[in-house]
Amino acid sequence: MSQPNAGQDRLDYLETADITEVHASIAREHAEPSADVTPIPTWLSILCAGALCWAGIYVGIFHGGFNPKVFNEYESNPTAFFPLPGNATVGPGGPAVELTPLALGEKVFKEVCASCHQLTGTGMPGQFPPLAGSEWVDGSEYNEKRIVAIVLKGFKGPVTVKGAAFNGAMPGQEQALKPNKIAAVLTYVKQAWGNKGGEISEAQVTAAKKEFLDHGDQWTAEELKKIPLDAKLEGAAAPGTPQANAKPADKPADTTKPVAEVKPAVAPAPAPVAATFDLASSIASGKAIYATTCIACHLPTGTGLPGTFPPFDGSEWINGDPRRLVALVIKGYSGPITVKGQAFNNILIAVDTQFPQLKDNASLANVLNYVRNEWSNKNSTAVTPDFVQKVRDEFKGRVESWNAADIEKAFPAAK
Ligand code: HEC
Ligand code: HEC
Repeated sequence: MSQPNAGQDRLDYLETADITEVHASIAREHAEPSADVTPIPTWLSILCAGALCWAGIYVGIFHGGFNPKVFNEYESNPTAFFPLPGNATVGPGGPAVELTPLALGEKVFKEVCASCHQLTGTGMPGQFPPLAGSEWVDGSEYNEKRIVAIVLKGFKGPVTVKGAAFNGAMPGQEQALKPNKIAAVLTYVKQAWGNKGGEISEAQVTAAKKEFLDHGDQWTAEELKKIPLDAKLEGAAAPGTPQANAKPADKPADTTKPVAEVKPAVAPAPAPVAATFDLASSIASGKAIYATTCIACHLPTGTGLPGTFPPFDGSEWINGDPRRLVALVIKGYSGPITVKGQAFNNILIAVDTQFPQLKDNASLANVLNYVRNEWSNKNSTAVTPDFVQKVRDEFKGRVESWNAADIEKAFPAAK
């Protein structure tokens, strides 16, 4: 037989006569529940109201046009809420977007230059020269005219950068980038990664554009060195006002427009082979076009660079559905892509934005026929200029580049 409370460290009800003492000791441990209504503390209501306000304002500013496909803060108008001092404007036909020249420059760099010069500005040994610490950007070969000239027209042939020799080709960006973007990207490049240069203004780029109007081809290092080191461009930012020439950033054209619907492929038209179309001579002309365009990234061997630029030789995108190939190159592609079982995650700029000569249907057809029949690629179906035009018409409404999901949707059966 055991005592119920034996050895336990608690009140012994049997021995305590005064029941009120028992209650008092219990009450000390458990507060009595009361029957009235306790108001929500004021601090909590204020906190909730504040959170709601913040959420409302946040959605108001960053609603991205409530587009279900993209989150695009540029569709909204933050400056209406937080006008930037000085240069805030709301342009006709839409809200203006404020990006400082440096932020805009960084964006352009990532979109355009980084695929070759790398995000870190270190370039790639033997392929793409570094911009970080380069004497052309911030050193003995630097001159504002020279650097603007390089980006406007491009650069080719042997050059030495930081003691390493390069002999590549950089496409000019004059057609692809407006002067304010070129100014911004150069301002960024001159200040990023420990470079200590100053600013390039939009006015300077415009002045250089005028001055080099007749310089059609890419520069060589020899030619550039003829531009004296003390040459100046008009329109430099006044010293002491680093952002003096900062113009409100361009609306990033490619991201603000409404996202065009992906057209499902109804009847994948085979590439028509015009009876008169001379594939052999198209391939021959395409070779020369390749040498001034795609070669910079996809290389003369068509092998690309592992991890950076996908290969052409044996690529299912090159040898597959020609309609998808044309659509891909005219609109560009961004994000993950698999080519010959290798994964890439980079950006292909819409090629005819980058290379105006490819706006011509015949030239584009020629370069595509070339890549479809070079190395181990063999395709007797020709891509004709008419076919290129048909695909252009079909995707006329589309402004943004392709990505893995929507190209799959548009060309479900393409192999
Ligand atoms: C398709 C690849 C490619 C892209 C895109 C590209 N470059 Fe280049 N860039 C090169 C190559 C290749 C060279 C060296 C050319 C040579 O060997 O003659 C070069 C050289 C340069 C040079 C001079 C050498 C140095 O390293 O300082 C500068 C400056 C430069 N690029 C800036 C830019 C900027 C700014 C952009 C973006 C607006 C850009 N590049 C986009 C490939 C590219
Ligand atoms: C500035 C570098 C650059 C240039 C110049 C360039 N491409 Fe590309 N290309 C890329 C990158 C990077 C990708 C991969 C995109 C990704 O990862 O999302 C790619 C992917 C492709 C693909 C799909 C994958 C494959 O390898 O089959 C095709 C097709 C293509 N490019 C065609 C062209 C053609 C045609 C030209 C010339 C008219 C060209 N590209 C010029 C960088 C470039």
